[in-house]
Amino acid sequence: MRTEIFYFSGTGNTLALTKKLGAKLGNTKISSIAELYGQPIKIETQIIGIAFPAYAFGLPRIVQGLVKRLEIPENVYIFALCNSGGVPGNPFRQLERLLKVKKRKLAAEFSLVMPSNYLPFGGPGTLEEQQEQFAFSESKIEEAALMIQQQKYGKLQKRSRIPCFLSNVVHKLFLSRTGKAAKKFRVNERCNSCGICVRVCPSSNIRLDENSRPEWSECCEQCMACIQWCPQKAIQIRRVPERYPRYHHPEVLVSEMFLRDDSSTKRD
Ligand SMILES: Cc1cc2nc3c(=O)[nH]c(=O)nc-3n(C[C@H](O)[C@H](O)[C@H](O)COP(=O)(O)O)c2cc1C
Ligand code: SF4
Ligand code: SF4
Repeated sequence: MRTEIFYFSGTGNTLALTKKLGAKLGNTKISSIAELYGQPIKIETQIIGIAFPAYAFGLPRIVQGLVKRLEIPENVYIFALCNSGGVPGNPFRQLERLLKVKKRKLAAEFSLVMPSNYLPFGGPGTLEEQQEQFAFSESKIEEAALMIQQQKYGKLQKRSRIPCFLSNVVHKLFLSRTGKAAKKFRVNERCNSCGICVRVCPSSNIRLDENSRPEWSECCEQCMACIQWCPQKAIQIRRVPERYPRYHHPEVLVSEMFLRDDSSTKRD
């Protein structure tokens, strides 16, 4: 069965899992949500997947936007693949609500744990812990692929124990501050003006100023990509200790994170 998986990824965890799942399923197109920004999307496959990291117990804003723009014919099998630092909250409920508006249902959901990329909360754990998470998540990808191939309904794990109202409150607050989040970002003297931060930003929120230093606008997604992929570790967040280790998925290349065509990615 032809499948299309739409993914959003700041530091490569979601991309790595999506690629693995796509390879297991076969006949699968993998589409970057960041590259499809703003466009209506007509689904032409029998199966679709939406893959994303949990943000503040819910869906990233850019993923909400994508789901709203999807035109999904009846009888399409829809699954979701969420990954998080271990406390995903209720992103599947939020997704179900968005699909309900379109009279569509979420058939299956998979929640995996990966190293956390949220810098303000510290690091991603030791290398040993990370390896354990990768190995466990990969085994779950195998199970997920089987369920999807058989178009089964269900989930591999229990849903979050965090009450929905609480995750909604935290998530709403997060969304209200997301656009301007980069106001807290600072660049130091280690910056060598390589421009990688500009190229990995999924929301075209960064440009190099007249001194070839990054300058942030107000449409941040808080994905941490600019900070985590900077080869000089030159970007800091105000009040977050500089010593916190940087992280990106070890099997993902920075070039895979570049937007293919920056100029076509327009923000609202
Ligand atoms: C803004 C932000 C919010 C996050 N919120 C949560 C959260 O509520 N619960 C959690 O377990 N992990 C949270 N994380 C961690 C990510 O979900 C996790 O590291 C994910 O694997 C990152 O995927 P990526 O590498 O594809 O971007 C958050 C990360 C970011 C950047
Ligand atoms: S990625 Fe780092 S070194 Fe490169 S331009 Fe951005 S801040 Fe400077
Ligand atoms: S400015 Fe940085 S954190 Fe914000 S969306 Fe762009 S890459 Fe992500």
